[in-house]
Amino acid sequence: MISIKEIKAEDTVGIRKEVLRKNMDLSAQFTGDHDVDTIHVGLYDNDVLACVVSFMHVNYMDTNKKQYQLRGMATKEKFQGKGFGKKLLEKSEEILKSKNTKIIWCNVRVKALGFYIKLGFNTIGNSFDIPPIGRHYVMIKQL
Ligand SMILES: CC(C)(COP(=O)(O)OP(=O)(O)OC[C@H]1O[C@@H](n2cnc3c(N)ncnc32)[C@H](O)[C@@H]1OP(=O)(O)O)[C@@H](O)C(=O)NCCC(=O)NCCS
Repeated sequence: MISIKEIKAEDTVGIRKEVLRKNMDLSAQFTGDHDVDTIHVGLYDNDVLACVVSFMHVNYMDTNKKQYQLRGMATKEKFQGKGFGKKLLEKSEEILKSKNTKIIWCNVRVKALGFYIKLGFNTIGNSFDIPPIGRHYVMIKQL
């Protein structure tokens, strides 16, 4: 059975490390992880945490609209391609909308662009480097 719920910052670190920090000497903890308005959401397949994402209340656009930065989106390798990431993001959007959020933005790795495009995000501007991870685009979705 699939369940999706808000989780603690500590719960995200294992999957972030395994999926997003593979072979990298880079922390899997983010600035803002423990801020009061940060939201961490996880998808469980039965009792196993399979997919995580976090949202920090950080502005990108110069507007009064409420914005959240999506960070640390990761599905454990053996669960990838099963629709879990999509389900997690859709549920997270409901949570954010209930908090009056109007914009989600994120720095997206080039190889993950297609995932976010399918979820209705658009790129803004040119690609840029985040060492040692590689090329990224800023992507935005209006809720
Ligand atoms: C990118 C990632 C989060 C997607 O999660 P997932 O659970 O595997 O994705 P889903 O199975 O829900 O895929 C949803 C849709 O996006 C597509 N998709 C998933 N990953 C994709 C990718 N890298 N490129 C293009 N399309 C992709 C799927 O084919 C699916 O399409 P469909 O709805 O037409 O069938 C996951 O593969 C992952 O953790 N990758 C490694 C880490 C990473 O790159 N994270 C993003 C950092 S910006």
